[in-house]
Amino acid sequence: MSIQHKGTKSIETVRLILRRFEAQDAEDMFQNWAGDLEVCKYLSWGPHKDVDTSLKRILNWMSNYNYEASYVWAIELKSNGMVIGSISVEISDETTQSCEVGYCIGKPYWSRGIMTEALRAIMHYLFYEVGYQSIRAKHDTRNLASGRVMQKAGMQFTKIEKNVGVGRDGSHYDCAVYTKYITDD
Ligand SMILES: CC(C)(COP(=O)(O)OP(=O)(O)OC[C@H]1O[C@@H](n2cnc3c(N)ncnc32)[C@H](O)[C@@H]1OP(=O)(O)O)[C@@H](O)C(=O)NCCC(=O)NCCS
Repeated sequence: MSIQHKGTKSIETVRLILRRFEAQDAEDMFQNWAGDLEVCKYLSWGPHKDVDTSLKRILNWMSNYNYEASYVWAIELKSNGMVIGSISVEISDETTQSCEVGYCIGKPYWSRGIMTEALRAIMHYLFYEVGYQSIRAKHDTRNLASGRVMQKAGMQFTKIEKNVGVGRDGSHYDCAVYTKYITDD
């Protein structure tokens, strides 16, 4: 079976609505996660300096929603209607029918199982609606919470990649790679 791209369709879970970003999410994005140095500690970008920087990022994602191979979800919390994070496909390989996902949410929402809920939901969509055969994610080895999310979502530890890059603080970092295959279910 080949991949049948379907784009960023809305997905509802118990506590979340995963949906396309809209321009009016810029304030939430900046306030809830993108402007926070601690959220960006292990990320390759950020923190954003103002709402306009978040808006530009969102407008860029929105311009790609026309492409059915674009998967960038805003994570909206049903209980307060706020957009509290994002989860997306960052790399896609059609030949191996594999992709890599990335995610982040705002600090006030950490450790409530929210990202595990979001990751499980998009993996189900990417496997069973789109047709990817494997999905991987990687985290800075110091970012243990992210590794826990991968484990709880059913991914298996695959390997350590040494000296993957240099962080904003100048330190060299290693990444742990996790993968889930559709056949693992
Ligand atoms: C990493 C991140 C996505 C986790 O999201 P979350 O919604 O808090 O994740 P969950 O609540 O589903 O699971 C987090 C798990 O990590 C654990 N955890 C939290 N801090 C931890 C730490 N410092 N060391 C080890 N485990 C930790 C939690 O206890 C929980 O595990 P448990 O359910 O077994 O108790 C969130 O912290 C985040 O957005 N961080 C900033 C951006 C980022 O690092 N993104 C990932 C880049 S690879």
